[in-house]
Amino acid sequence: MTPTVEIRRVSEHAGQEVTLQGWLYNLRESGKLLFPLFRDGTGIMQGVVVKSAIPPEIFARVRGLTQESSLRVTGKVRADQRAPGGYELDVSNVEVLQLIPADAPYPITPKEHGIEYLMDHRHLWLRSTRQRAILGVRHEIIKAVRDFFDDRGFTLVDTPIFTPAACEGTTTLFEVNYFDDKAYLTQSGQLYNEAAAMAVGKTYSFGPTFRAEKSKTRRHLTEFWMVEPEVAFAHLEDTMALGEELVAFVMARVLEKRRQELTTLERKIENLEKIRPPFPRLSYDEAVKILQGKGSEIQWGGDFGGTDETLLSENSEKPILVHRYPSQIKAFYMAPDPARPEVALCVDMLAPEGYGEIIGGGERLADLALLEQRLREHGLPRQAFEWYLDLRRYGTVPHAGFGMGIERVVAWICGLEHVRETIPFPRMLNRLTP
Ligand code: 4AD
Ligand code: MG
Repeated sequence: MTPTVEIRRVSEHAGQEVTLQGWLYNLRESGKLLFPLFRDGTGIMQGVVVKSAIPPEIFARVRGLTQESSLRVTGKVRADQRAPGGYELDVSNVEVLQLIPADAPYPITPKEHGIEYLMDHRHLWLRSTRQRAILGVRHEIIKAVRDFFDDRGFTLVDTPIFTPAACEGTTTLFEVNYFDDKAYLTQSGQLYNEAAAMAVGKTYSFGPTFRAEKSKTRRHLTEFWMVEPEVAFAHLEDTMALGEELVAFVMARVLEKRRQELTTLERKIENLEKIRPPFPRLSYDEAVKILQGKGSEIQWGGDFGGTDETLLSENSEKPILVHRYPSQIKAFYMAPDPARPEVALCVDMLAPEGYGEIIGGGERLADLALLEQRLREHGLPRQAFEWYLDLRRYGTVPHAGFGMGIERVVAWICGLEHVRETIPFPRMLNRLTP
């Protein structure tokens, strides 16, 4: 019996006969030779079919294979320096599981396709080498994030997706029917993380979050994944250091395990190797001055637009930690700076090379009376936040945390133009399919 092996492990079978199961990626013909490229999800391997070495019907079968037809192929593994992956398969037999007819071919051919066409065929586009590389890096980032927190004594506490109240402003809420009531899809697990932090000290949540973003930008999805740590007794400085450590850890892990994928994506690896602490810190005040110097229209008190973020980070080799934004442009839960109450103890981390904000967070308002006042100022329904106010009634302590958007990090590390390729099935203003 020949063993069935994964392409990623063929090197363990040099000189042996094996069976691969997968799909035809490409087929080249050169006289009496055929060079089919097989892929199986774990890698790509070139086969060699010599007309004189196999029965004519098998040669004809390989020759008739169409792109993405599914198959099982048997042959001998041979080391070859020139082959992609270092090994080739001397094909002796092919069993076709499904032959895609030539008159109704696989929709994505090696020729160029427009982005909307590819997005419409996202369910198939995922099979491409480039998309598989992105999926691999995304997986590694998520695994690294989990390892980072798990190894540091954080407890994962899952937060709900149906929520009764807004966390990040009412303009981006998705409202859904909830029996005879209304609910909102969560914008952030933070409020629940604050409850969990009072229970377990250090917690994180990791899940999908939703924002009804009505603008089309290269950084916004309506459904994205966010990891959110929250730490009891932590202050702004602690949360900045935690974010810095997390990003450096994730980067080191991807560089260690996913070099091949980064090479496939033609990412400048030297740029990623520079991502080591310390990251520069910049106050909002200083950032505004820099932006004005670069010709931005920004005035003190205004929020940064995508262009401002790009301007701030485009010449930086490392992520920048921008802290102490005006309270008026930030969420209701932000603690004011005791030394300057008009600014909040908050931080945004901006990725280099113009990738924009990857982390947002800070220290939370721990005082009951001030929090009640902020809810009023923001016009938020007191009733829905009663449970949250309890956290300030019963043993309130300083605490801080942040949220890191996974897709923004994937875009940066992979060097992608747009977040639409960072998540398997993106959801955006004008896209709900496939
Ligand atoms: O800055 P944001 O809105 O912060 C919060 O939600 C806090 N409650 C998190 C916390 O402190 N626990 O979002 C955090 C991060 C952003 O820095 C960005 O990386 C990402 O989430 N993000 C988005 N990513 C993709 N599409 C969108 N529409 C995003 N909105 C935010
Ligand atoms: Mg933010």
